[in-house]
Amino acid sequence: MAEFLTGKRRTCMCGEVDVSYVGKEVTLMGWVNRRRDLGSLIFIQLRDRTGLVQVILDTENSSAELLEKASSLKMEYVVMVKGVVRKRVGDNVNVNMRTGEIEVVVDEVRILSKADTPPFVIGDATAGELLRLKYRYLDLRRESLQKNLFLRSKATQSIRNYLSGNGFLEIETPFLGKSTPEGARDYLVPSRIHAGKFYALPQSPQLYKQLLMIAGYDRYFQFARCFRDEDLRANRQPEFTQVDLEMSFIESEDDILSIMEGLIVNLFKDCWGKDLARPFRRMTYETAMELYGSDKPDIRFGMEIIDISQAVAGSGFLPFENAVKEGGTVRAIKFEGGEAHFGRKDFDRLADFVKTYEVKGPMWYAVNDKGELKTSFAKKMTEESVSRMCEKTAYRAGDILFVIADNDTERTLQAIGALRRYLGDKFELIDKNELGITWVTDFPLFEYSREENRLVAKHHPFTSPKIEDLPLFDTAPEKMHANAYDLVMCGDEMGGGSIRIHDKEIQRKMFETLGLSEEQIADKFGFFVNAFNYGTPPHGGLAFGFDRLMMVLCNTDNIKDVIAFPKMQNASCVMSQAPSEVDDKQIDELHIKIVEKEKADEAE
Ligand code: AMO
Repeated sequence: MAEFLTGKRRTCMCGEVDVSYVGKEVTLMGWVNRRRDLGSLIFIQLRDRTGLVQVILDTENSSAELLEKASSLKMEYVVMVKGVVRKRVGDNVNVNMRTGEIEVVVDEVRILSKADTPPFVIGDATAGELLRLKYRYLDLRRESLQKNLFLRSKATQSIRNYLSGNGFLEIETPFLGKSTPEGARDYLVPSRIHAGKFYALPQSPQLYKQLLMIAGYDRYFQFARCFRDEDLRANRQPEFTQVDLEMSFIESEDDILSIMEGLIVNLFKDCWGKDLARPFRRMTYETAMELYGSDKPDIRFGMEIIDISQAVAGSGFLPFENAVKEGGTVRAIKFEGGEAHFGRKDFDRLADFVKTYEVKGPMWYAVNDKGELKTSFAKKMTEESVSRMCEKTAYRAGDILFVIADNDTERTLQAIGALRRYLGDKFELIDKNELGITWVTDFPLFEYSREENRLVAKHHPFTSPKIEDLPLFDTAPEKMHANAYDLVMCGDEMGGGSIRIHDKEIQRKMFETLGLSEEQIADKFGFFVNAFNYGTPPHGGLAFGFDRLMMVLCNTDNIKDVIAFPKMQNASCVMSQAPSEVDDKQIDELHIKIVEKEKADEAE
């Protein structure tokens, strides 16, 4: 039977007991991490969130009752022990642990709770992930996960302090809101009271934070829970946390970027004790695409993309000539000294890789140190154009050039950018000691949606265009740029935001260009647009992906490592079995009917 703590108080945490406690009596509580019986002595390792402490029991000088209890302790039992702290001697000393120079000689043990044998060894990160997620509360006892969550708590405090100190008010916004179009699919909540109607869980508090600016709150922030029903990846969860903020009366983008840099610098100082250099690098979207083929460039390694279209023009090699003639491009990356790593089969594998980007290639060109040429295309080119290409790319024997040519420039850049990233990972070219921080600015205002065959907002429809681009609304909207920016670290998007439109006429033009009719505007965000009639300050903001920042701070590439109760790849929770079926009565009350369950079951 479990015992009770009547009259007992914990005097300190397990991991805190050090030499300063020698000679003192302590009462500790925690989990049995390990028990060893050595005949005359019983060793118990006691654990709580602060660490481990060694407790010993001298079998010859202990009462039969105490001995029996200590011998019955099993892994993960929760116990209270009382005893006197003494110095360890000889080999017993462990200088690497805070509690490694002492042990507690126990004179009382109480079993507060017994435990079944855990389904995996606590702390074993190699046990199957599914099993560990099913028993997440046991896996959370693992030191490395604890460290991550402690750091997350510290980071939360750091950000709160910084933003509060800079005049930002912490304000919560609703979870049950109206479905508004925003990139991803909504999570919907059917209404019981309003038959046939649905709330949507927020993909972000975007509209609310802008309304707070209209309401005159000047500076707002929130650790905002966001919900997006999208395909999950190693850096994406269906529900995640943003550090969401908005500020009024900003003069320019710089006002926001500068405060945000302060936040990040402060965060890394508080969490890592590291001073990051300011100001952060900035590059335009165009540069990011041109040099890295990505709007989240990994700048922790070189291998920048080189435009060789001009160099190979008139080369006689048709794929290059046609690509350029049809308005496309020919781009190369150079893997310095890469020749030695590549065999024929490796090239074939790369072809499979780039196929997913709907381009052909990559073509390759390499001269080994014996002067032998290996190439998939250069033999079909004129000698001058080969030497122009080598000159343009500063090619040296031992390097490999990878080349992609296509009549769609964006597609080419994305494909070769992805190839660059793939090679960087595979050949460990990335300097993992670097954070590769950069702002990416001057995003296009619109992008073309092939699916919808129209322009859609690249960020969202409330993002302000660059003032100098306003005349392009009527002539070439696809060429317009936005006052939008992303923060990139370690080749991943850590956050993004924009200056918002606060001028009704510009907002009208924006909707018009997006092809939204008056009715659609009124229906989708009438309440929001209406608010702009009542005095709107110039404003702008940003949201950091807090989980992603924590991934960097905790040095992990798995978002689950920084979230206490994450979802699996298919958005389910193996521990709680969510999502789950509900009673017919609940379904009836919500005025909905499940008609496709069989199909869904089959799909699973
Ligand atoms: P955005 O959609 O770019 O902007 O989101 C901001 C940041 O949130 C993080 N993020 C995610 N993290 C984990 N899992 C996900 N599924 C996920 N989706 C996004 C990213 C991203 O940079 N309202 C705007 C911000 C603004 O304009 O102020 C917004 O939500 O790190």
